[in-house]
Amino acid sequence: MTPPPARAGRAGAPRAVRFDRHGPVDVLELVEVDRPAPGPGQVLVEVVATSVNPGEILVREGAFATTAPATFPSGQGSDLAGRVVEVGDGVADWSVGDEVLGWTDQRAAQAELVAVPAGQLTARPPSVPWEQAGSLYVAGGTAVAMAAAVPSAPGSTAVVLGAAGGVGSILTQLLVRDGVRVLAVVGAANAAWARSVGAEPVPHGDGLERRLGDAAPQGLAAAYDAHGGGYVDLVLRLGVPVDRVVTIIDFAGAERTGARTVFGHHVTTARVLADLAGLIASGELTVPIAATFPLARVREAYTLLAERHTRGKIVLVTGAGPVAAGTGAPAATHPSGDAV
Ligand SMILES: NC(=O)c1ccc[n+]([C@@H]2O[C@H](COP(=O)([O-])OP(=O)(O)OC[C@H]3O[C@@H](n4cnc5c(N)ncnc54)[C@H](OP(=O)(O)O)[C@@H]3O)[C@@H](O)[C@H]2O)c1
Repeated sequence: MTPPPARAGRAGAPRAVRFDRHGPVDVLELVEVDRPAPGPGQVLVEVVATSVNPGEILVREGAFATTAPATFPSGQGSDLAGRVVEVGDGVADWSVGDEVLGWTDQRAAQAELVAVPAGQLTARPPSVPWEQAGSLYVAGGTAVAMAAAVPSAPGSTAVVLGAAGGVGSILTQLLVRDGVRVLAVVGAANAAWARSVGAEPVPHGDGLERRLGDAAPQGLAAAYDAHGGGYVDLVLRLGVPVDRVVTIIDFAGAERTGARTVFGHHVTTARVLADLAGLIASGELTVPIAATFPLARVREAYTLLAERHTRGKIVLVTGAGPVAAGTGAPAATHPSGDAV
């Protein structure tokens, strides 16, 4: 992919994803908004790629209405990669034209222009594809945090439950890279992918507990739950010590059993993202990209995500970079390979 030409800005009002009430995917609109102004310590990023995450579905539907309420009209999205087009007062590290990846915690990434604190960005290595760069913050940061919460030694055997998803696909590769024998719990369609990254696929569904027991007769040293649905209890029944079990979704199960929990956004830093981007640049990590949609098709991106069978990440592109190649809608493909 060739780098995009640096541009000083865009003509007309920028567009952003907005919703003005909780509800199904139909509440999402791509609308024209005021051009954001970078405040002190911020830069304005022209977004090339951003991604969708399951937590955003919960926010939009109102599941966090009491704990983390949306204020309407609400924007959406955290992950972003793009190009600096304006620099606020007091920013020394970034210049117009710099290519960056990072995050906003203002639910604002699914937009053509986003004002971002300078410390929430790292440089995009030129060889890191825009789609992967724009997918790293939530999924990558959470994968790193899971691995750090329950460190696994080289040669030990661990299970990753939900190994093919955004978080699991990155975590699986990080553990394999560390020399861990990884049992990757995936559906049949993702078994070949799991093998391709050096893990051993174990199909989910009826009989999983027996299959895992058979695959690790000496026991499992650690369990990483990126799916929920009772997996915390399942791995405890298999004898994994409770302090070697971490989940990012089954908070009730963790509360009841004492398993560990991780919130990626509490611990992810620009340094973490720089390290992940470095691994992608050196060919040691690949974020699988299941589908790429233009920003205007944000509803379809979330509809596909809600099927919960994404391999890796679903990406939204703005057309500001070479991902859309100036030809209108980029190809969007379902994990099955069918056109979306
Ligand atoms: N606490 C945090 O900080 C944090 C951060 C990020 C995400 N999360 C949460 O963590 C979960 C995973 O996030 P994500 O972005 O990785 O989701 P995702 O990309 O939507 O996950 C999709 C994956 O789930 C797999 N899957 C579906 N049914 C499964 C089953 N029965 N057993 C095992 N895997 C199954 C699918 O694999 P197959 O197609 O092979 O079935 C697919 O690859 C979500 O609930 C999300 O809300 C929490």
